[in-house]
Amino acid sequence: MIRFSVMTLFPEMIEAGVNVSILARAAANHLLDIRAVNIRDYTDNKHGRVDDYTYGGGAGMLMQAQPIYDCYQALVNEQPADRVIYLTPQGRTFDQEMACELAGEKHVVFLCGHYEGVDERVLEAIVTDYVSIGDYVLTGGELPAMVMIDAISRHIPGVLHNEDSTDAESFSDGLLEYPQYTRPEEWMGKKVPEILLSGDHAKVDVWRHNESLKRTKSRRPDLYDAYISLHPEETFQ
Ligand code: ADE
Repeated sequence: MIRFSVMTLFPEMIEAGVNVSILARAAANHLLDIRAVNIRDYTDNKHGRVDDYTYGGGAGMLMQAQPIYDCYQALVNEQPADRVIYLTPQGRTFDQEMACELAGEKHVVFLCGHYEGVDERVLEAIVTDYVSIGDYVLTGGELPAMVMIDAISRHIPGVLHNEDSTDAESFSDGLLEYPQYTRPEEWMGKKVPEILLSGDHAKVDVWRHNESLKRTKSRRPDLYDAYISLHPEETFQ
């Protein structure tokens, strides 16, 4: 079972995000264990203070090293951490490959920053990976941690009941997924493509692959070019 520990000042935000739907079911089935730990519980001052002014001046407050380090120690005393991830726009950009790789770990710890950031010394002491979820700035690391937990969990066997669903989906072969349809056959004058009703699985597969190529070319030309350079013989009509 994989454990995700999230060091945060807002554990209720993590709990609200992960205790629903597929992640809640996976936790109930002991496929994963998600813990939100309040950094404030580890302050060594009676005011519960976790932040202070920046040396050298400048606007805003920084999270102090001591509560974060003590929180980290408590977590790793229970179970050693394979990875300690600091969520920051300065990190490497999270992607499907990283999600798949992290799904093989046993204990992944996330550190969520707030205010203007975190004292550099504690980052140097504990962090193994600096990760960003995209080139924009959020108010804290909680949403990025939840995004990562969700994307990683989908790669853990048994979390998705239909084992096929990670194979055909977007990115698994470097292409976006083809369009899909369910009942009714006609909706607002729009018909389901004829070939999908034919029962000819080989033809359906060809059609789907072609649609994947078409969609990837128009929506993500960067992915399309990368795919075609690996498969130069492939084009679509
Ligand atoms: N914290 C603030 N913005 C972030 C981002 N884009 N990715 C990860 N952590 C962040």
